[in-house]
Amino acid sequence: MNGPDRSPGASGRGTTRHVLDVDDLSCADLRAVLDLAAAPPDAAGPVLDGRGVALVFERPSARTRNASEMAVVALGGHPIAIRGDEVGIDRRETAEDVARTLACYHAVICARVADHGTLTRMRAALDAAGVAVPVVNLLSDRAHPCQAVADLLTLRQRFGDLAGRTLAYVGDANNVWRSLALACAMVGVRLRTAAPDGYGPDPDDVALVTEAGGDVEVSTVPAEAVAGADAVYTDVWVSMGEEDEAEQRRRAFMGFTVDRDLLAVAPDALVMHCLPAHRGEEIAADVLEGPRSVVWQQAANRMHAMRGLLAWTMGAGPDGAAGAADRVDR
Ligand code: CP
Ligand code: NVA
Repeated sequence: MNGPDRSPGASGRGTTRHVLDVDDLSCADLRAVLDLAAAPPDAAGPVLDGRGVALVFERPSARTRNASEMAVVALGGHPIAIRGDEVGIDRRETAEDVARTLACYHAVICARVADHGTLTRMRAALDAAGVAVPVVNLLSDRAHPCQAVADLLTLRQRFGDLAGRTLAYVGDANNVWRSLALACAMVGVRLRTAAPDGYGPDPDDVALVTEAGGDVEVSTVPAEAVAGADAVYTDVWVSMGEEDEAEQRRRAFMGFTVDRDLLAVAPDALVMHCLPAHRGEEIAADVLEGPRSVVWQQAANRMHAMRGLLAWTMGAGPDGAAGAADRVDR
């Protein structure tokens, strides 16, 4: 941990270990999750012990779904992947009723949702009912904490201690940016962000990250952000749900491609991308596949990060014996 732990997770938000964004964890929790993720797959033991984990997807996924299913199996659990239209959140029944129902069968409810508010409502419904089943965000329009944990794991594997390192983020200050920025703040990584006017971070989010102890610089000039950085990160210019804005966004982001010319000002920097990638838009093909790219390591780490995160939701880690979360029959 670096300095005082000012992450909101540090003050606690109840006993159920929900993860809607990285700041639901304290710095110590985040370190525990990373340690669990880095440990051999059987280190936490079969903490799910035959119990179910719901994996709801309102949006497509390659990495998150497969990483999550395999992580659940590694922890001795039974994953059930559910397409959004099967449960029809707020169409067939309310988000609250879906959460209460899934909690009858599953130890954890993980969901990828179009609207972050769906997750907060699911969490509130379970907490209000006294149902100790964690809700885990598999990506929303606001946050992607499971990705950020995998990204930190990747950086830790490459650099060891991360305090004092500098990450440059070039592109849209979106869901991936927000979780990554919080994660960086919590491990002492400086974050320099370059985005076109209108696509940079919301001032409230910069305040949130600063409050979590983060050192955030924002500019509209990619080379300023990238100069001398230890790693350069980018994500798609058009996120899921923004397809109607695609042309406008592609115009706005011209000049923000992570390519060889841009990387010349950071000769030692690693290159990161959460995937899926659009070669020739946010990242040049030769950079994505080049020797500085760690994107496939990030992708592989999604499974380890998920295993660490799920084990932590079940009580594994320094603050609780593995499997300590209450088993409630309903
Ligand atoms: N990075 C990521 O979340 O990939 P998927 O959308 O394929 O899950
Ligand atoms: N920002 C992207 C991330 C995909 C993993 C999206 O939300 O579509």
